[in-house]
Amino acid sequence: MCGIVGYIGNRQAFPILIKGLQRLEYRGYDSAGIALIHNGELNLYKQKGKVADLQRFVEQQDTEGTIGIAHTRWATHGEPNERNAHPHYSQTENLALIHNGIIENYAVIKEMLLEEGYVFRSETDTEVLVQLIDFMQKTNNVCLAEAVQLALSQAVGAYAIAVLEKGNNNQIVAARKGSPLVVGIGKDEFFLASDATPIVEYTDKVVYIGDEEIVTLNRNGEMKIVTISNVEKTPEIKKIEMSLSQLEKGGYPHFMLKEIFEQPKTLADSMRGRINVDANNISLSGFIDNKDKFLNAKRIIITACGTSWHAGLIGKYAFEEFARVPVEVEYSSEFRYRKPVINKDDIVIAISQSGETADTLAAVELAKSKGAFIFGVCNVVGSSIPRATHSGCYTHVGPEIGVASTKAFSAQVLALTMLALLLAKEKETISDDFYIKLINEINLIPIKIKEILKINNELKDFARTFTYAQNFIYLGRAYNYPVAMEGALKLKEISYIHAEGYPAAEMKHGPIALINQEMPVVVIATNAATYEKVVSNIQEIKARKGRIISVVTKGDTIVKNISDYVIEVPATEECLMPILAVIPLQLMAYHIAVAKECNVDQPRNLAKSVTVE
Ligand code: AGP
Ligand code: GLU
Repeated sequence: MCGIVGYIGNRQAFPILIKGLQRLEYRGYDSAGIALIHNGELNLYKQKGKVADLQRFVEQQDTEGTIGIAHTRWATHGEPNERNAHPHYSQTENLALIHNGIIENYAVIKEMLLEEGYVFRSETDTEVLVQLIDFMQKTNNVCLAEAVQLALSQAVGAYAIAVLEKGNNNQIVAARKGSPLVVGIGKDEFFLASDATPIVEYTDKVVYIGDEEIVTLNRNGEMKIVTISNVEKTPEIKKIEMSLSQLEKGGYPHFMLKEIFEQPKTLADSMRGRINVDANNISLSGFIDNKDKFLNAKRIIITACGTSWHAGLIGKYAFEEFARVPVEVEYSSEFRYRKPVINKDDIVIAISQSGETADTLAAVELAKSKGAFIFGVCNVVGSSIPRATHSGCYTHVGPEIGVASTKAFSAQVLALTMLALLLAKEKETISDDFYIKLINEINLIPIKIKEILKINNELKDFARTFTYAQNFIYLGRAYNYPVAMEGALKLKEISYIHAEGYPAAEMKHGPIALINQEMPVVVIATNAATYEKVVSNIQEIKARKGRIISVVTKGDTIVKNISDYVIEVPATEECLMPILAVIPLQLMAYHIAVAKECNVDQPRNLAKSVTVE
């Protein structure tokens, strides 16, 4: 994770770098730092904590310079403190480097450099890299770009780096492997960043740097890309479509609340051109262009992490119910290492909001190497996973900035449901009537979410009563079981209350031992084939004095009568209920976290984009 920003041009670099760091702070906030070159001097400014701490720290200092690099850290090697903060100097303070990722063989390189007399100031893997570049430059008597190339040919792991050299006011050298890096092209100026968000207010022209590529950005407007194995590449300029207003809070106190409230719109955006009520059809070009692959697939493997994995579980229910194709849902981190059986007639669906999650990207590469067809469900356009897949479908919900994923989840579920229904239609495993009914129901989702959002104030008051809780249990069955897990994840991520999501009936095989009058139990008990069974599960909790918070379909009386608190959601088809039922759980987690005065948008220890293993 971590965020990287760079600037070279005619403007003052410092304000651009600070603003860029603020935009990237969702990626990590353990420390922040900046390197600037001014009058040939290479100056570093770093602070433990947030970008605002760095800003306060440099307030009275001279921050002149038209070339600089900056970093916001999510620590992997070494405590989050000032010493381990990036940028890191080389021994003679001739070079400064920022890094996103992990250098896996850092210990071996460090040993070699220690023998050469290098002294280390930090515990990071990153410092090894800057020292190695310095060593390569000195021993081979080469320029900075060549030294970076030589050093990276010895580095194992993932990185996006940027390097500055004392006295060299005219050049930033950057490179990537595994971690993202984008160059923004302005007029006589270049921007560098982990994603396009720090760049969008200056230019819409970008170049996505490829794996194992080194880019040199020159003050004269020249940009050169060469691979680690020395093949020159022509930069491919792309246009970014993102507006500045999408990156601001728009009057909401937190990005998370804004993103929860955006869902009627983001889901409508996700459906646009895909759900056609008049023509009674669903259109997804990524499917249509590869219809035979889907029709011939013997199995679908879904791979993802965290919230995206929960969306994948819901996808499994839909694919199996409607398209009658077996589906396995895998944590990417397990899948990539456990020598899975992957066949040429398998379809692998990789789900990722950021499109940068290292484990999911590695799972994609593995499946690709085994000849499977890879389909991506991603949000960030142009990110690494969609570029690595054969085909896919963007969720189009705009930038998600709150670390806890909300609007991306509902759109992932929608995308998978549309895909499952399309496949079912092609395979004729769904009746025309039901297919049309579902299309109409999907179309009504944005309106129904608007209705659910009206309970926000009521939920806010209710949520306050739970700040005392140490634990929560979330229960659901069938399509609502992954929703229970997602509700629990939301709560633990942002409020630090321990929460577990369980299949309701599985509770009696262990977790029921936890139930007492202190334990809040959230049960998603909407109309479904398993409704009566869930009612029995609630009775089992009541009998042990647990406090029941239920999510029910409007008009429900049975569950309502046995619950301590009831949240109503409009009726819909069972397979679509997760998109509605998750909304009150997102709001509840949000309000409990706010009442506990937690940092909702930047929860401790987390980062938005997990580009390390
Ligand atoms: C969601 O609230 C989490 N912060 C996290 O679980 C996230 O969903 C996971 O890291 C996967 O990210 P991705 O969708 O960008 O791949
Ligand atoms: N591995 C490096 C460190 O711990 C970089 C981590 C990051 O990506 O922020 O400092």
